[in-house]
Amino acid sequence: MIKKEERSFLLDQQDQKVREQLSKISHKIMVMSGKGGVGKSTVAVNVAVGLSLQDFMVGLLDVDLHGPNVPKMLGARDLKLSRRPDGRLGAINYSPNLKFLSIEPLLPSEDSAIIWRGPIKISAIRQFIGDIDWGKLDYLIIDAPPGTGDEPLTVAKTIPEAYALIVTTPQEVSLIDVKKSIRFCQKVKLRILGLVENMSGFICPHCGKGIDLFKKGGGQKLAEEMGVRFLGRIPVDPRIVDTGDIGKPIIAAYPESITAKAFEELVRNIVSATEEMYRDVLEERFMRIAIPVSSPVKFESDLSKVSLFAIYDIENNKILIKDVVKKPENTDLITFLKDQVVTHVILFNPSKEWADTLVQNQIRVLITDSFEEHPDRLIEEYLREKQKH
Ligand SMILES: Nc1ncnc2c1ncn2[C@@H]1O[C@H](COP(=O)(O)OP(=O)(O)O)[C@@H](O)[C@H]1O
Ligand SMILES: [Mg+2]
Repeated sequence: MIKKEERSFLLDQQDQKVREQLSKISHKIMVMSGKGGVGKSTVAVNVAVGLSLQDFMVGLLDVDLHGPNVPKMLGARDLKLSRRPDGRLGAINYSPNLKFLSIEPLLPSEDSAIIWRGPIKISAIRQFIGDIDWGKLDYLIIDAPPGTGDEPLTVAKTIPEAYALIVTTPQEVSLIDVKKSIRFCQKVKLRILGLVENMSGFICPHCGKGIDLFKKGGGQKLAEEMGVRFLGRIPVDPRIVDTGDIGKPIIAAYPESITAKAFEELVRNIVSATEEMYRDVLEERFMRIAIPVSSPVKFESDLSKVSLFAIYDIENNKILIKDVVKKPENTDLITFLKDQVVTHVILFNPSKEWADTLVQNQIRVLITDSFEEHPDRLIEEYLREKQKH
């Protein structure tokens, strides 16, 4: 039996390893969808390959523990985990600048059906990130299983700074699922990169031209409605199924096809959206502001006493989401704020030590001299001031 303190020590160590790995990865993108079969893995694989063809260093992590199909789509069934000089295991090398990992190579046989209990799933996903060396990456693409269950939740908690890429199809039901995914992201505070409409229009297998078989464009309308970016549409193309089966993603197998071009445009849009979101933080168009509170409606000026925080997502000077979060007892303040991906903290008369520590951790400090008690008022006051300048 592992004693409780030892277990929490092990967990702390793993947290640290996970953090360390993630700090070497510039952008993390979780590909998600409300339901299965909409082409999430297809999009994840083609986007990862597309990014790697643009000379980015890319990792592709398949966290679908029940139906891992990334290795098959990459045609990479027999590959083994690489071993680093320091003895650690590394992700599987697919090409000089693309590596991937999935549960499949770790299973005794490809057909073994596995039943995972919640906690095992969570630790497996954390190990994929903490125990496996990914090295320095520009992008980590995560193929999450469908829905809003354990796995996407674990990814959101483990990689809170990940952006969500939501995949949908033009059908009505799927669009309802998108709303669910968007709500999930808002609840766990994942920032949304944008929406992709897959199986939008049809590419004729005989002439290779596009035909509008089903109505398309619902994704774009919905994206506008929900205020998220529309990143592109991918047509129905029978070659996607074939290339998925032979293990050569269409973007690489038929680079001249309309479908490959559509994926290339998607990749370009993903790159520019990612950079835009990054700049939004630097230039304060997006802010996640934490305010220490003693209750949801009362500002607390003594940082050492506080365990409750009101957290606001601000976009273009408007409050998008407000949440009140309790800092876990055994988590220090900085770790907590980093886990929440907080960009700013509002403080009253902070000690120099606190202010310095926060700034060293890339968290900006906003000092208030207001006696306003309600955190909402403090935010409004701050936004008013900011707009004046
Ligand atoms: N645009 C497309 N055109 C034709 N077939 C597609 C397209 N996108 C996905 N598919 C096929 O649909 C099936 C489900 O796709 P997959 O990527 O595995 O979905 P998910 O990961 O969302 O469950 C696969 O057989 C795949 O080859
Ligand atoms: Mg899949």
